[in-house]
Order: sequence, then structure tokens, then C-alpha cells
Amino acid sequence: MVFINTVKFVILSLALCASLQNINAEEVHVVGGDFGWAIPLGGPIFYDDWASLQDFEVGDILTFNFTNGEQDVARVTKEAYLSCNTTNPISLKNTSLANFTLDVAGADYYFTSTLDNHCFKGQKLAIHVPGPREPLNYTVGDKLGWVVPPGGESEYEAWAYNKLFLIGDTLVFYYINGTQDVAVVTKEVYEKCETNNTVAVYKSSPTRIILNTTGEYFFTSTYTDHCALGQKLAINVTVNSSTGTALSPAEALSPTTNIGPSASALSPFSSAPSMVPFGYMVTIVSFGFAFII
Ligand SMILES: *[C@@H]1O[C@H](CO)[C@@H](O)[C@H](O)[C@H]1NC(C)=O
Ligand SMILES: *[C@@H]1O[C@H](CO)[C@@H](O)[C@H](O)[C@H]1NC(C)=O
Ligand SMILES: *[C@@H]1O[C@H](CO)[C@@H](O)[C@H](O)[C@H]1NC(C)=O
Ligand SMILES: *[C@@H]1O[C@H](CO)[C@@H](O)[C@H](O)[C@H]1NC(C)=O
Ligand SMILES: *[C@@H]1O[C@H](CO)[C@@H](O)[C@H](O)[C@H]1NC(C)=O
Ligand SMILES: *[C@@H]1O[C@H](CO)[C@@H](O)[C@H](O)[C@H]1NC(C)=O
Ligand SMILES: *[C@@H]1O[C@H](CO)[C@@H](O)[C@H](O)[C@H]1NC(C)=O
Ligand SMILES: *[C@@H]1O[C@H](CO)[C@@H](O)[C@H](O)[C@H]1NC(C)=O
Ligand SMILES: *[C@@H]1O[C@H](CO)[C@@H](O)[C@H](O)[C@H]1NC(C)=O
Ligand SMILES: *[C@@H]1O[C@H](CO)[C@@H](O)[C@H](O)[C@H]1NC(C)=O
Repeated sequence: MVFINTVKFVILSLALCASLQNINAEEVHVVGGDFGWAIPLGGPIFYDDWASLQDFEVGDILTFNFTNGEQDVARVTKEAYLSCNTTNPISLKNTSLANFTLDVAGADYYFTSTLDNHCFKGQKLAIHVPGPREPLNYTVGDKLGWVVPPGGESEYEAWAYNKLFLIGDTLVFYYINGTQDVAVVTKEVYEKCETNNTVAVYKSSPTRIILNTTGEYFFTSTYTDHCALGQKLAINVTVNSSTGTALSPAEALSPTTNIGPSASALSPFSSAPSMVPFGYMVTIVSFGFAFII
């Protein structure tokens, strides 16, 4: 058991390292590709076509590649973009490579050149960065529900791993009333398992926790030894989809993508697809089984 847990931990750590690199890897988009940033022969449709083939995400970087002195690049308002009024740009750069970070989810960005009539000749770019996704309901533990996990603490770590928690999302804890509770605790209590000291305790399943602030959330159970036995969950809530490059909403919804395939293979609980009512049934059934034995 200890050996298997160690193996799981190692695999999980490796998967974590591998995917942290993905999370931080903001993409660089070289505007116009090999053509770069200049007056396009075909007019503005050239940059429209280029933009339509890109997959922009918050945190990505636009790189304008041009000949110094022959071009510049101005970020402008929508009105200025449409009318080609370049007298008062939001920002202006005249040295290649000129980079802009797409830092706001759901925003539109407009660029053009302020040099004579370049804008009218089609040297203009409009792009849209996708906004925050719809709020999600996350069933804690998926079909395992909220119990003392057979595999220890790592089961809830594996569940939370690679999930994107945003403000407005809801955690749903399923358990059997009277056999578990949901305790909201501080980090210190979470680490030391001193569960006599809680922020809030919920005793009625399903317990819905709306994630309405950013930062860390810590959960455990006040039942004797449950915390020490690994019934504990820590998550991070971020704003909007600023880390959304890690995971598409579809992936976040899928219970199979939270850990790597090898770790899934080791854990019987994380690989099966789960539906909320189904997961609930399974929890009840396994409890009934335990009582019969
Ligand atoms: C910029 O354009 C020049 C000339 O076409 C090219 O050699 C260079 O690789 C480009 N740089 C980037 C970052 O695309
Ligand atoms: C860029 O702008 C700065 C200040 O406006 C100016 O001093 C510099 O000569 C310009 N560089 C080029 C390549 O036009
Ligand atoms: C261009 O925009 C500036 C303000 O940014 C405004 O003062 C000016 O009148 C505009 N020019 C035209 C031709 O609309
Ligand atoms: C812009 O980003 C490119 C990488 O795409 C980098 O090589 C270049 O140094 C950056 N330019 C500036 C001015 O930061
Ligand atoms: C989050 O989204 C809201 C509305 O879409 C937006 O106003 C706000 O600037 C965004 N915050 C960040 C940090 O992207
Ligand atoms: C989340 O659960 C609530 C309450 O059951 C429900 O109204 C809402 O539609 C659910 N949202 C999603 C995205 O499933
Ligand atoms: C919780 O229990 C620990 C030791 O078991 C004790 O030191 C601590 O004072 C208790 N805290 C509260 C709030 O009762
Ligand atoms: C738990 O108790 C609440 C009332 O306190 C009830 O609404 C809920 O249906 C119960 N859940 C289960 C799983 O029995
Ligand atoms: C956040 O949600 C909790 C319940 O999950 C609620 O008690 C609290 O009032 C909410 N806070 C805000 C600022 O909405
Ligand atoms: C939340 O994110 C911070 C900063 O990235 C990190 O230090 C912390 O360990 C994370 N906490 C959890 C519970 O994942």
C-alpha cells in the first residue's frame, strides 16, 4: 500500500511538472506570419484571415515584425481602427520586434500603423480574446464523492489537479448525512488536522460551496481521524480564465483529464466517467456494502 502510494505520488508529481510547463507557456503569435507587419497587397482581409487562423488566449503575446523606420504599430480604440484616425493611439511602438501581451479576457484589441495612409491601405488588425467561460459545478471526487479516500490524501489532490477553478464555480460535496461533514478551514488547520477549529461546517448533503473569492480554499471533515486519513481538499481559485491556457472548458468538465493516463490506471476512482446522480448512487451502494460485511 505504501509502495503503491509512493508510486502514485511520483507519477502525479511528474505529471504535475509536465503540465505546469504547459500552464506557463503563453503562445507567441507573429502577426502576419512570414509576411510580418506591413501594407498587405490584398487589403485588410489579409490580417483578418491571419487572425481567424489563430487561437488567442489570455496571456498570449502578439509580436509585430517589421522594418524599423518603415512601419510602426499603434494599439488604438475600435473607433480609431474603423475610421483610421491614428492621431491619439492608446500606445505606440516603432521598434521591431514590438510585443503586446493580450492581458484581458474577453477583450477586443485593435492595431494599425500611424504612418501615412497605411491604415487606409489595410495595415490594420482586430482580434478578440475569448472571455471567461460559464460557471461550472464540480462534483468533489467525482464518483468517489466526499469520503475518507481509500488511497489517502492523493485521491483528492489528483481530483483537483489540473482543474481550473474560477470565481462563480461551485463545489458540490456528496456524502451520506451523518457519516461525513464538510469543514471549511484555514491552511494551518488543514495542514495540522486540528479540526476543532473551523471556519464553517456543513452537515447536509449535497453541500454546495460557491467559489466567490479568489485564492486558496481548504476543506476537510470534523469526524475523528478523517482529516488524518486524507479526507482533505485544497484548491486555488483564479480570476476569469487568466490561466485558461492550461485547459479548455471541455477538458475541465471531463473527469478523465485531471491526471495523466498512467496515474488514472493506478487509481480505480479517477478514470471512470461520472454523472452527478450516478456518483451519488455509487457512494451509497459502497457504503451499504461495507455495512453488510
Ligand atoms: C522577422 O522577419 C524577418 C525578415 O522576414 C525574418 O528573418 C525573421 O525571422 C522574422 N522574425 C520573427 C520573430 O518572425
Ligand atoms: C521611434 O520613436 C522615438 C521617439 O518617438 C524616436 O526617437 C525614434 O527615432 C523612432 N525610431 C524609429 C526607428 O523611427
Ligand atoms: C481623431 O481623434 C481625435 C481624438 O483622439 C479627435 O480629436 C479628432 O477630431 C479626430 N479626427 C477626425 C478626423 O475625426
Ligand atoms: C518580443 O518577443 C520576442 C519573442 O517572440 C523576443 O525575441 C523579443 O526580444 C521581444 N521584444 C521585446 C522588445 O521585448
Ligand atoms: C474578468 O472579466 C471581467 C468581465 O469579463 C473583466 O471586466 C475583468 O477585467 C476581467 N479581469 C481580468 C483580470 O481579466
Ligand atoms: C449547477 O447547479 C445548479 C444547481 O443545481 C444549476 O442550477 C446549474 O444549472 C448548474 N450549472 C451547470 C453549468 O451545470
Ligand atoms: C484544538 O485542539 C488542539 C489540540 O488538540 C488545542 O491545542 C487547541 O487549542 C484547540 N483549539 C480550539 C479552538 O479549541
Ligand atoms: C441530508 O439532509 C438534508 C436535510 O438536512 C436533506 O435535505 C438531504 O436530502 C439529505 N441528504 C441525503 C443524501 O440524505
Ligand atoms: C460566498 O459564499 C459563501 C457560501 O458559500 C457565503 O456564505 C458568503 O456570504 C459569500 N460571500 C460573498 C461575498 O458573496
Ligand atoms: C495556490 O497558488 C499559489 C500560488 O501559485 C501556490 O503557492 C499555492 O501552493 C497554491 N495552493 C494550492 C492549494 O494549490
